[in-house]
Amino acid sequence: MVRAICLFVLAILVGHSSCQDDEFLYDTFPEGFMWGSATSAYQIEGAWDQDGKGESIWDRFVHDDVPHIVDGSTGDVACDSYNLYQEDVALLKNLGVSFYRFSLSWSRLIPSGDLRHGFNQAGIDYYNNLINELLANGIQPAVTLYHWDLPQGLQEHGGWLNVSVTDRFAEYSDFAFLFFGDRVKTWFTINEPWVQAVQGHGFGDFAPGINQSGILDYQAGHNLILAHARAWHIYDGKYRPTQGGRIGFNMYTSFLEPKTDNPDDVFAAERAMQFLIGWFGHPVYSQDGDYPAVMKEFVAFHSAEEGFPESRLPQFTPEEIAYVKGTYDFFGLNHYTTMLAENGLFPYAPSYIRDGEIIPSFNESWPESAAIWLRVVPWGFRKVLNWVSNEYNGVPIFVTENGYADSPDQIDDVDRVNYYTSYINEMLKAIKLDGVNVIGYTAWSLIDNFEWTAGYTERFGLYHVDFNDPLRPRTPKSSAAFYKQVIADNGFPAPPPKL
Ligand SMILES: *[C@@H]1O[C@H](CO)[C@@H](O)[C@H](O)[C@H]1NC(C)=O
Ligand SMILES: *[C@@H]1O[C@H](CO)[C@@H](O)[C@H](O)[C@H]1NC(C)=O
Ligand SMILES: *[C@@H]1O[C@H](CO)[C@@H](O)[C@H](O)[C@H]1NC(C)=O
Repeated sequence: MVRAICLFVLAILVGHSSCQDDEFLYDTFPEGFMWGSATSAYQIEGAWDQDGKGESIWDRFVHDDVPHIVDGSTGDVACDSYNLYQEDVALLKNLGVSFYRFSLSWSRLIPSGDLRHGFNQAGIDYYNNLINELLANGIQPAVTLYHWDLPQGLQEHGGWLNVSVTDRFAEYSDFAFLFFGDRVKTWFTINEPWVQAVQGHGFGDFAPGINQSGILDYQAGHNLILAHARAWHIYDGKYRPTQGGRIGFNMYTSFLEPKTDNPDDVFAAERAMQFLIGWFGHPVYSQDGDYPAVMKEFVAFHSAEEGFPESRLPQFTPEEIAYVKGTYDFFGLNHYTTMLAENGLFPYAPSYIRDGEIIPSFNESWPESAAIWLRVVPWGFRKVLNWVSNEYNGVPIFVTENGYADSPDQIDDVDRVNYYTSYINEMLKAIKLDGVNVIGYTAWSLIDNFEWTAGYTERFGLYHVDFNDPLRPRTPKSSAAFYKQVIADNGFPAPPPKL
């Protein structure tokens, strides 16, 4: 094992070097550690109705008469990556990444969402061109099948609330493996099912804008889990033997720190982890499958209290539990921030937050970002990596998103450089000091893009995009140079010279 060198001024002063939260670890990542960057189709492609693409729920949502996007913008053009993908690949090559995580637009490939109504050859051509351009530049494609842009045609039949969507997703996945799996060896089924369930069907602030927390979020979540398992089994049984790739789920994770050391708050924080990560993680990654026991118990309790005849949390049959359990090759982990959890009852019933009896908050001392939900808490990253590894028996973790939001048009983005420095270092500590098996890291995002309901008011890119210029020119930010150096060094090999 490579010796871990902990250096910190305070450690030198007091004459010891145990690695505390605020110490910087100079060391490198394991050989073969994968570095990449990511985007998603709706956020970058534009060309929303070009060359036979069908409408998605995000196309519908941004064109709604009711405004949903803070700056009134859309992803109609976005970064125009549908036309400028070769520029994006050149940026990736400049960074020196080994892979690029991007998503397929389901409705670009299958306009109605239902393969029985036909597919779109121009969509196949586009992704073939992108994949071939990546490979020609020595970059592995790592493909997300679903990043929230359900074909509108399926929404007309209830979308994620209709279990038949799992059949459509299975057919679409099979189609994608068939056409692209000869060259794509890393697949992700569904990005952040929690966001699609809770924000799409509970709070209703994301497409499809359905607002029935504590009921429809759970129903959508149930079908998202079944759909994930369908795709995994199709890959595992039909394509893995000849294509030899790997496939997993992507979880939205935060770390939940107890607000006080009162046992009620300590339990609330653990419960919050189960309601956030365990909801989708436990059925797939745990030894026993199914939803977390604490989640089943708390939702059933509040459902009864509110007069529902049965729990609002759907039940898996024993056959489904067996079918879903173990459908992973790795744990895809997206991480941005940490919150405090306090034991308490959210006033609105029924609701997902009330079910968990969790009152979330931030510590006001944690630095803010341009996104209200994102505070800079680097140590939470190390803790969440440890939590997932302990909870799921040392599962290999693939960090599939991590990044920082700032306001538009910052080229010398020192806050993002500081964020990446500290977060990547905490990941290094999780690997080197705690023994967590992290296999790769993905910076979100390659380029500034359409940040959902925040439109273009929040930026995550390593490269700036000028959205006022029809040519959408890309410009490297300071963070691009920083990340390029981390990749070249495979970490942080040397401490700065002593003065
Ligand atoms: C669910 O989907 C099936 C197949 O598309 C359709 O026949 C049925 O009407 C849908 N159910 C609802 C409630 O929309
Ligand atoms: C959801 O419904 C609640 C209660 O009717 C309402 O207060 C809230 O504004 C709604 N939110 C959205 C995003 O529609
Ligand atoms: C908030 O952070 C400060 C500074 O680290 C710390 O002293 C305080 O205990 C924290 N409060 C909570 C509730 O976590």
